[in-house]
Amino acid sequence: MNKALILGISGQDGSYLAEHLLDLNYEVHGVIRRHSFSENQTSRIEHFRKNLTCHYGDILDYGSIFNIINQTRPDEIYNLASMSHVAISSHIPNFTIQVNGLAVLNLLEIIRLNFPKIKFYQASSSEMFGNSIDSDKYQRLSTPMNPVSPYGCSKLLAYNLVRHYRNSYKLHLCSGVLFNHESPRRGVNFVTQKITKRAVEIKKGKEKELILGNLDAYRDWGHAIDYVKAIKKIVDYDESKDWIVSTEITRSIRDLCKYTFNKLNLNYEDFVKQDQKFVRKEELEFLRGDSSKTRKLLNWKPEISFEEMIDEMIDCWMKKI
Ligand code: GDD
Repeated sequence: MNKALILGISGQDGSYLAEHLLDLNYEVHGVIRRHSFSENQTSRIEHFRKNLTCHYGDILDYGSIFNIINQTRPDEIYNLASMSHVAISSHIPNFTIQVNGLAVLNLLEIIRLNFPKIKFYQASSSEMFGNSIDSDKYQRLSTPMNPVSPYGCSKLLAYNLVRHYRNSYKLHLCSGVLFNHESPRRGVNFVTQKITKRAVEIKKGKEKELILGNLDAYRDWGHAIDYVKAIKKIVDYDESKDWIVSTEITRSIRDLCKYTFNKLNLNYEDFVKQDQKFVRKEELEFLRGDSSKTRKLLNWKPEISFEEMIDEMIDCWMKKI
């Protein structure tokens, strides 16, 4: 039985990846942090927790991670642990760089010095591109990376470290540069969940307005379930390298509002207001990834459409609220 260790198992991607690996008959281990609201912390994995082995640890705590790897001896490690909110990273830049950047260096050192056979996956991000874009309006691995947030800078640090360790020490280290991916398990302070939740609350008469920041940024949104399947294929590929995972379709936040409110027979213009509070210091304006190589070499493509994904998120809120 193959063994996997997921750092960040209680997050959106970690929870879907754990389910996918269990379906593939893996023994799945995960690291969870101590949290003052322990009852909420594992809500995404509670329904299948009996099939997992969870260990208390923290990616910032070198000894705890070394011990977990030493005890479990995984074949594969997936590093999905991160401070993942771009806007919040401007409030806690030092912490963001430590968790998303320096902690990855520690993981690479643990692997290099002790467990060089482990296959390692690093969650890299399209936020690393910042506002760079090729003349055909796509981002790809050759597009210059000029991040516009502490989050983007931290992810670029980790991405470059992974490349350097792979080239220098011939380790199986890969990165997936994932564009935005969403689901009903997304945190409510990301824009897709914020919009779908509040639109349903408005529909049910519980709220009157939705306050957002920039409506004219564009994102390439896929479904997290499709993206964790790509992650597994990335790790399984013979050669370890970097990959783009995207839908190749981009939409604005305004398009997202329009679709969501229309679905509930409402007009978004009657409810959506803007406040500078939610506008970022430096905005990443436009994302659209060219994933043609990933599609061809890994025989992967997104199966769930944007509309199906948003409908699923709306349905979930309709049931919950
Ligand atoms: N969160 C949020 N809240 N975003 C808003 C709001 C608001 O009220 N109003 C407008 N936006 C805009 C943001 O300015 C941004 O342009 C866009 O909505 C998407 O914001 P998020 O959903 O917070 O995601 P993100 O693109 O910043 O980052 C996500 O995608 C990255 C991949 O590109 C995160 O999942 C990152 O962890 C991930 O790496």
